[in-house]
Amino acid sequence: MRVLLAGGAGYVGTHTAISLLEAGHEPVMLDDLSNTSSVVIDRIAEITGARVPLVVGDAADDEVVEGAFDAHGPFDAIVHFAAYKAVGESVAQPLSYYANNLDTTYALLRVGLVRGIRSFVFSSTGTVYSDPADLPFTEEATRNLVALSNPYSKSKLMNEQVLTDVQAAHPELNVTLLRYFNPVGAHASGLVGEDPKGTPNNLMPFVARVAVGALDEVGIFGDDYDTPDGTGQRDYIHVVDLAEGHVKALENAAPGTTAYNLGTGNPVSVRELVASFERAVGRELPKSVKPRRAGDLAATYCTPAKAEAELGWRATRTIDDMTRDVWNWQQKNPGGYEG
Ligand code: WQD
Repeated sequence: MRVLLAGGAGYVGTHTAISLLEAGHEPVMLDDLSNTSSVVIDRIAEITGARVPLVVGDAADDEVVEGAFDAHGPFDAIVHFAAYKAVGESVAQPLSYYANNLDTTYALLRVGLVRGIRSFVFSSTGTVYSDPADLPFTEEATRNLVALSNPYSKSKLMNEQVLTDVQAAHPELNVTLLRYFNPVGAHASGLVGEDPKGTPNNLMPFVARVAVGALDEVGIFGDDYDTPDGTGQRDYIHVVDLAEGHVKALENAAPGTTAYNLGTGNPVSVRELVASFERAVGRELPKSVKPRRAGDLAATYCTPAKAEAELGWRATRTIDDMTRDVWNWQQKNPGGYEG
């Protein structure tokens, strides 16, 4: 299948391109390179032997999307990864989050429908669920727009609604909403991984920077939550498992709009993740307990049973696989792709 990956040169898109190639598909990337590097194309070629075509441009611009179809189409499917994704930044810059995260969807749908794509796969998030009473989250758990704490998550839930309504008006289009939990890890080769700009906000890349000595210590944001060790629990998923979930979603796209949780179903605490990273590195890392971070839930994790039943997909990689692969990537690329 020939697949346009919008925002495909980013963290999840790059790993998905590799998994698609390995499954015999033909990915093409459209990316403005605002938060990644074209070096990923060389790295993917090193891993797979294939050079993925890259169209550099804004997925919110119909003419750019049309240009990608003209140059590399027709496409069977679009996977839409192109979005701003920093929760805190979205609170400070709501307008740019709503505009970018929705305009990209509109342009991709407008062009995709005219050009006859069969499937549209959307990068959604486990943060569309807001009520801890629903843990572990199934796909039916509460999604209340006004209860969500930040514009990033709201923009994702709004996208889900847009896609659901567009699909209802265009029954020939299969829409799949993939709700990611906490993607971490890197390709086992150490050639591709997460390359956040500036100081990372998320736990795993932060710990990785502490481990290479670029940051002083890990701050544990609260150890008085109602969890087994008092620190926050998340459903970390290896990015290669997540990438394979996209391949299965494309191969099993069904009529209508269908949402799937992509997570492991296993809650892992901050202390457990740091301990796993310490095992990977082979030494203790400097760390101290800090106040809770505003807006954090004690625990978020899903039940991934629907994806297993309907897509034949399940995450197989452990937390130790995730930290080992991040450490390998971080050591080989201490300054990221362009370091
Ligand atoms: C995990 C845990 C923190 C940093 C993120 C994204 C969100 C999303 C999913 C997309 C929490 C604790 C963190 C640190 C810490 N993806 N922590 N010290 O908050 O679950 O959400 O992943 O939709 O966009 O923001 O992930 O990695 O920031 O935090 O103790 O330096 O680690 O309090 O318990 P989170 P995270």
